[in-house]
Amino acid sequence: MSSENKELEERIKRLNSIGIALSSQTDLRILLETIVKEARGFTNSDAGSLYRKEEDKLIFEVAQNDTLDRRLGEKKKEAFSPFPIPLTKKSISGYVALTGITLNISDVYHLSGEEEYSFNRDFDDRNNYKTTSMLVIPMKDHEGEIIGVLQLINAIDEMGNIVPYSQDLQDLISSLASQAAVAIRNAKLIGDIKNLFESLVKYSATAIDARSPHTAGHSRRVSELSVKVAKAINEENNGPLSDIKFSLLEIEELRIAGWLHDIGKIGVREWVLEKANKLNDDRMELIRARFMYIKEKIKNELLKREIEGGYDPTDIEEKLNSALKELDDDMEFINIVNKPGFLKDSDLERLKKITGKKYSNSNGGEESYLTEFEYTNLSVRKGNLTEEEYKNIQSHVVHTYNILRNIPFTKNLKNVPLIAASHHEMLNGTGYPNGLKDKQIPMQARIIGMVDVFDALTAADRPYKASVPLDKALQILKLEAKDNRLDERVVNIFVEKKLYEGAV
Ligand SMILES: [Fe+2]
Ligand SMILES: [Fe+2]
Repeated sequence: MSSENKELEERIKRLNSIGIALSSQTDLRILLETIVKEARGFTNSDAGSLYRKEEDKLIFEVAQNDTLDRRLGEKKKEAFSPFPIPLTKKSISGYVALTGITLNISDVYHLSGEEEYSFNRDFDDRNNYKTTSMLVIPMKDHEGEIIGVLQLINAIDEMGNIVPYSQDLQDLISSLASQAAVAIRNAKLIGDIKNLFESLVKYSATAIDARSPHTAGHSRRVSELSVKVAKAINEENNGPLSDIKFSLLEIEELRIAGWLHDIGKIGVREWVLEKANKLNDDRMELIRARFMYIKEKIKNELLKREIEGGYDPTDIEEKLNSALKELDDDMEFINIVNKPGFLKDSDLERLKKITGKKYSNSNGGEESYLTEFEYTNLSVRKGNLTEEEYKNIQSHVVHTYNILRNIPFTKNLKNVPLIAASHHEMLNGTGYPNGLKDKQIPMQARIIGMVDVFDALTAADRPYKASVPLDKALQILKLEAKDNRLDERVVNIFVEKKLYEGAV
């Protein structure tokens, strides 16, 4: 094989491996930088730029320049950030982007003057740089669409002199530019899909949280704080958490699971989520109206007796007063027990007694002071939810699992359904929905579980619990850890490193 052929073969091999490297890079920024770097390396160019075509503009994305790097050092690097420039045939890059014609110019300061484009020497003047040879190539994707322009500046020969770009190099760089274009397309597509997925995740979680004004922002906070905890755990080099290290992918899994952990609340009735007291305001109004009616009824009854005669009027007056007072007291009592909290035995007895009282309705039928539904709700002994409602709320994790397991997550996110659906499991097995224990509960779920409790306690406006002061909330977390419900190590790092700061 002649040395020329050998060189060509070497170049093609190199081109191939660059192509492979480009196609595996999905981060657009890194990809663009790599393309310019590799193309410059291939052609031994002092400088290079990349423009991305976007509708009617070119975005100046990458600028690399060895001479200026040497001269300016770090100063130059920080100066550059992408910016748009108008897409017209008057500039060299614009001309190439619009026509798809490659320009191989040996000296940009000596154009014939016939060209539609001209060289803009602003950059050179500003930076005291001298652009001479230039190879400007359209980046065409597999469908032949121009998606950008690759610009190589000042090819340097073995002696260190600036020379024109050879035809051989032009062909090879054209091929590289096409591979780069496809890689950019793919990276953009992957980026778009990621963005789409991200927005879907965030919008659905936000929409679910917004079903109840009291949980607004909950999922976002749980996701962000969980990631913070995981990162803090990664930094632990001593102590009980030192052997736990989350990879970047596992943290991403945790972030998404945090956002989606309560997605199953879509299957929980809204009024249950919103329930602030044992009975809602409308129902309480109804009871109040009923008691007014009963009062009138009693008054009429006693008045009738007075008219009929045979009774002592003072006696009737007394009876009336005591009956009305009893009703007022009962109503006040109902108002009190309607609030969430603990119901004492004596309260339950009194509630039963009130429910047992009867009055005759407008049709003459006999009815209880409180309906069965009202009694069931008011007689809740802890909190404000009936057993059925509590089960309905708890079912959200089952819904979370069922929704998420039907989403075709990528391999990297395959554990999201399990992590998200295990956030109410407790280490001692008393959690729900599956009563999982210890190692059965993924570490990420333990983090979300703890952050979830913390947020539920400290969020300003939960309906069923007034927000708890920070020190009290941390004390509750510690108690939960002591009972082996939450992971003690996770609670400890959360408290000791004050990871909650900025979250409350
Ligand atoms: Fe939950
Ligand atoms: Fe939650």
